[in-house]
Amino acid sequence: MQSRPRINRWTEARRNLVFGTTMLESLVQPHFVVAGTGVDEPISSMPGIHRQSVDVLLETIEVDVKNGVRAHMLFAVVEDGEKDHRASVASEPSMHGLEAVRRLRERFGNEIVVMTDVCLCTATDHGHCGLLVGEDIDNDATVERLVEIALANAEAGADYIAVSDMMDGRVGAIRTAFEDSGMTDAGILSYSVKFASSFYGPFRDAASSSPTFGDRGSHQMDFRSGYSEAILEAVSDENEGADIIMVKPGLPYLDVVRQVADAVVRPVAVYNVSGEYSMVMNANPERENRRPMVQELLHAFKRAGADIIVTYHAREAAQHGWTH
Ligand code: PBG
Repeated sequence: MQSRPRINRWTEARRNLVFGTTMLESLVQPHFVVAGTGVDEPISSMPGIHRQSVDVLLETIEVDVKNGVRAHMLFAVVEDGEKDHRASVASEPSMHGLEAVRRLRERFGNEIVVMTDVCLCTATDHGHCGLLVGEDIDNDATVERLVEIALANAEAGADYIAVSDMMDGRVGAIRTAFEDSGMTDAGILSYSVKFASSFYGPFRDAASSSPTFGDRGSHQMDFRSGYSEAILEAVSDENEGADIIMVKPGLPYLDVVRQVADAVVRPVAVYNVSGEYSMVMNANPERENRRPMVQELLHAFKRAGADIIVTYHAREAAQHGWTH
């Protein structure tokens, strides 16, 4: 089966995220997870966002949940010494990102939605999103590796695997692997329409995932491309079995969000990325000045057609009641 609509209905927390009608229910908070214990390290390019070890992450999410943020996306940050050319650590069951998923499941059961970003760039020593042949990314070999990482995340208990690599055919391959392993409730959130964007700069600092040479232009989308390219990517991921279709970045591509929302039947997410977040934070160091700007942005995403909003503002918006 390439399509299992029940995946988005599997738990109440998933239903609230995907089909809920309030702004608060639509929000997903991203987190950067590091190895160790007691680590709570501010990220200088992203005011208010920290790299946290699993123990600190659990406490952070506990507070978020009390404030109503139920959906969480994890990025495992890997030390340079742990990286290699094929991102081996990413599928090691003992890796801190996978431990975080297991501990979250133990602590919160199905009260929350856990998403994990699946890509190679945070764990490769060259910083590219795939396996290299010379200086090129080998698409199909990368897809095989992504399948292994996706399976490890689903086994740990993630609700959704968020594939952010932009390789051709990876959604279908992961869907098939889930079917073959009997993982009929594991979802795929595809970064379907992901542009090669200068707005990812602060994230690459936070996750230490910058490529050591070249760029991501051979796989991420060209910002000069028209709507047909976006729709091609979104519809093919949908046909391969993606459960949620995402457009990224958000603000510079609100028109693309609208076009994609009109073209697909699956729920649409938007990623309000690190550079967009940092612009708002740096322009408004005072919380009260940020408030109207964040509210306006969240509604812009909704108006453009997003059902789900992945945003670093989720925590503050929920905590201070900016979600109306
Ligand atoms: C990994 C990945 C990136 C982001 C999410 N997943 C960076 C990139 O593609 O270089 C960016 C998120 C953000 O900027 O907030 N491929």
